Amino acid sequence: MTAPPTPPPAAPRVPRHLAVIMDGNGRWAQQRHRPRAIGHRAGARAVNLCIDFCLDKGIGALTLFAFSSENWGRPEDEVGALMKLFLNALEREVSELHRRGVRVRFIGDRERFPDGIRARMREAEALTAGNDRLALNIAASYGGRQDIAAAARSLAEDVAAGRLRPEQVDEALFGTRVALADLPPPDLFIRTGGDHRVSNFLLWQLAYTELWFTETLWPALDAATLQRALDDYASRERRFGLTGAQVAGRQDEPTA
Ligand code: FPP
Repeated sequence: MTAPPTPPPAAPRVPRHLAVIMDGNGRWAQQRHRPRAIGHRAGARAVNLCIDFCLDKGIGALTLFAFSSENWGRPEDEVGALMKLFLNALEREVSELHRRGVRVRFIGDRERFPDGIRARMREAEALTAGNDRLALNIAASYGGRQDIAAAARSLAEDVAAGRLRPEQVDEALFGTRVALADLPPPDLFIRTGGDHRVSNFLLWQLAYTELWFTETLWPALDAATLQRALDDYASRERRFGLTGAQVAGRQDEPTA
């Protein structure tokens, strides 16, 4: 007889890691007959609110999708406005984040950003590297497929160089080569703006993440909306492919 599967550890009531797609900046601005860039600026305020919320609730890691690898294809003036906003945020917010114990990191293809932004990214990471209250990860020029392809390439390079045998490549090893490998995978994913999709965000890391969607546009985000997401998350049963009885640590249900 094979041993019964070990139930997964109880899911923490407060997510250890929250991943967010901040959608709806453009529509928020359009509703006010303002340029889309104004929506992004208002979106930056909501970023601060979200960070405050995580610090307040003891959420250990927050990953924000700030700019996808596909967003480079947006109109030039919008990309330019976003670059200005990122640079301003890096110049203005990082020392305060550092003071509050936030470690800032960037994931994605940063080679595509202008030199000034790349330099600020490096400075922010170096300054805050020792902090441990909140791991804030900004996905910038990031794509989940690109993340997986880079992991595959790094493993292939190790195989080609004789450092690794193909049969050693398994999920556990693969998972060490994707972004944020040192963090627990996101427990909760939130997308604002009403669309129900993951849009090439953290495709590997979201395998067992609880998904939560809201119509609220990102710049209109408030703590009450984030709390609703946390309450919903706390009420969910996470089974990780097992049965409800197994997760509860019981073996009284016949398994198929
Ligand atoms: C999606 O809304 C949002 C973005 C592509 C940019 C996100 C950027 C911010 C929230 C601003 C600042 C960020 C940081 C980290 C300082 P959308 O433009 O696709 O909105 P829409 O769907 O209504 O058009």
